[in-house]
Amino acid sequence: AILACFLEAGDRFVSGEEISRKLNVTRTAVWKHIQELKKRGYRFESSPHKGYRLAGRPDGLIPEAIKLAAGPVSILHDVIVLDEVDSTQTEVHRLAAEGAPHGTLVAAEAQTAGKGRMGRTWLSPAGKGIWMSLLIRPPLPVLLAPQMTLVAAVALCRALRRETGADIGIKWPNDLLSADGRKLCGILVESVGEDERVRHMVVGVGIDCHLEETDYPPELAGKATSLYLLTGRRFDRAVLAGVFLKEFDALYRLYFAEGFDPIRTLWESLSVTIGRRIRHRTGDRLTEGVAERLDERGGLVVRTDSGEHVTLLAGEIACV
Ligand code: BTN
Repeated sequence: AILACFLEAGDRFVSGEEISRKLNVTRTAVWKHIQELKKRGYRFESSPHKGYRLAGRPDGLIPEAIKLAAGPVSILHDVIVLDEVDSTQTEVHRLAAEGAPHGTLVAAEAQTAGKGRMGRTWLSPAGKGIWMSLLIRPPLPVLLAPQMTLVAAVALCRALRRETGADIGIKWPNDLLSADGRKLCGILVESVGEDERVRHMVVGVGIDCHLEETDYPPELAGKATSLYLLTGRRFDRAVLAGVFLKEFDALYRLYFAEGFDPIRTLWESLSVTIGRRIRHRTGDRLTEGVAERLDERGGLVVRTDSGEHVTLLAGEIACV
């Protein structure tokens, strides 16, 4: 709570007395907590008459900082940050089964078995990225669940473009790519249904923030990148996480108020897939052609060389 007071105050000095009154604790207790925060890497400036202000904080997924950056959003109920976990996705499914509410977020500094799409693993080194999963319980038929994946992709793309200024686009359905086509973020949305309705969904987001070239194994070299490699800057991960949640909250509300159409328009405007020649394989069926648009379900409409229109609903595409 003391940390939250300083974060909320921003550049302003806050006196020990103000905090002790606000939180109903003694000034000695406030002082002790400030010493404790200093040990954890927080830096304070003090002024005899004005009190303290936060002058620096350790880079970390700090729950209070995530909440502050997200603002008063209904998509966020609770933030749990772990040092290490197998997968935040698995952790949130477990919490959901125990009845955790809509808006439970689990983030981790490191994942030992990060999950990617299509059974792949997701590289999640300690302190280098944002590895988080959000539990949502949307009133949605299972059939429409894939649309939520696109809502998340639009939210993440808008948040990161705004915060970092980087030229980031969406590859269908929900990979975020840099302008030179390297993967920067992955989104994994998993749904659990009951009688054709969604019981819960886990929106998993992986953002490569501070990774350097040497952090990537040979098989990802040239294919993946990070915000640091892209911009030369190290962004505050708690702020990025919070800003994504704020954007997701706004688009989630837009989706339930006005349906998929406005999301589809936003997705198409951020897409690096529309207008490109793509290839898609499911089982022994190969589709190759030009991606034209998203359909009203979120499928990708492709015009093949024979002039036929094919709608892709799942899987992965390659740009050719
Ligand atoms: C992809 O393959 O593109 C999706 C990657 C999703 C990775 C994130 S990291 C946080 C969450 N926990 C996981 O185990 N996976 C997702």
